[in-house]
Amino acid sequence: MKIGFVQMRPVLGDTAANIKKITSLIEDIGDADLVVLPELCNSGYNFKTGESAFKAAEEVNGSQFIRRLEELCKQFNFHIVSGFNERDNDRLYNTAVLVGPGGYIGKYRKLHLFLNEKDLFAPGDVGLPVFDIGTCKIGMLICFDWIFPEVWRVLALKGADIICHPSNLVIPGLCQRAVPIHAVTNRVFVVTANRIGDEDDLTFTGLSIIADPRGEVLSQASSDREETAAVEVDISKARDKNATARNHLFDDRRPEEYNRINKK
Ligand code: ACM
Repeated sequence: MKIGFVQMRPVLGDTAANIKKITSLIEDIGDADLVVLPELCNSGYNFKTGESAFKAAEEVNGSQFIRRLEELCKQFNFHIVSGFNERDNDRLYNTAVLVGPGGYIGKYRKLHLFLNEKDLFAPGDVGLPVFDIGTCKIGMLICFDWIFPEVWRVLALKGADIICHPSNLVIPGLCQRAVPIHAVTNRVFVVTANRIGDEDDLTFTGLSIIADPRGEVLSQASSDREETAAVEVDISKARDKNATARNHLFDDRRPEEYNRINKK
């Protein structure tokens, strides 16, 4: 199958403009089977007030943004994972949605909120779901989640073949160095779709990346251009968890020594 990303510069607070931009970039991507879009790409990122973040959010039910993703998935017969500023009654979540040709499938809500996100969003409360889309199993993480190795492992143990990682990264280069390592230690494919551009005091770092279970970088974007990429991958490589003839990534673990992980 072919997996890819859209790297873009969302417009803060303008869902219609973001839908238009995503539509035109996605038309570039050709015959991909799975496309990952950046974090909060329906709304932009750097909201100064809860009110402005709220105004730019949508509920999953009735979202014009998700309806457009559904249309694109149907038109191109692929799946999309996209960042989504999600309203749920009086709360906001920094969410990733999975959509396919048959419509909306499910969501993940960011567990580890970064800096001022803590003033705007509620922390994730839907765990770490893995979705079987037939051709592969998909897990999702969002941006700063990357720094917590626990979540990569949980998704791998739940059977994720591909970890889709919508992002708005601002710390230069660090995550992009870590992603191939997370791919190696869990033997999964990773697609990090980052954004570019500035919003007030924040500069987003681009360099979106696709890494394979051997840590090879299959594709990497520029730091400052809107662009797309898609690469052919063999999903069976994510299902072989043998590190050597006598070492299995999961079977050789020693969970009885890892109890500390379950405590704060
Ligand atoms: C981030 O989590 N958006 C850096």
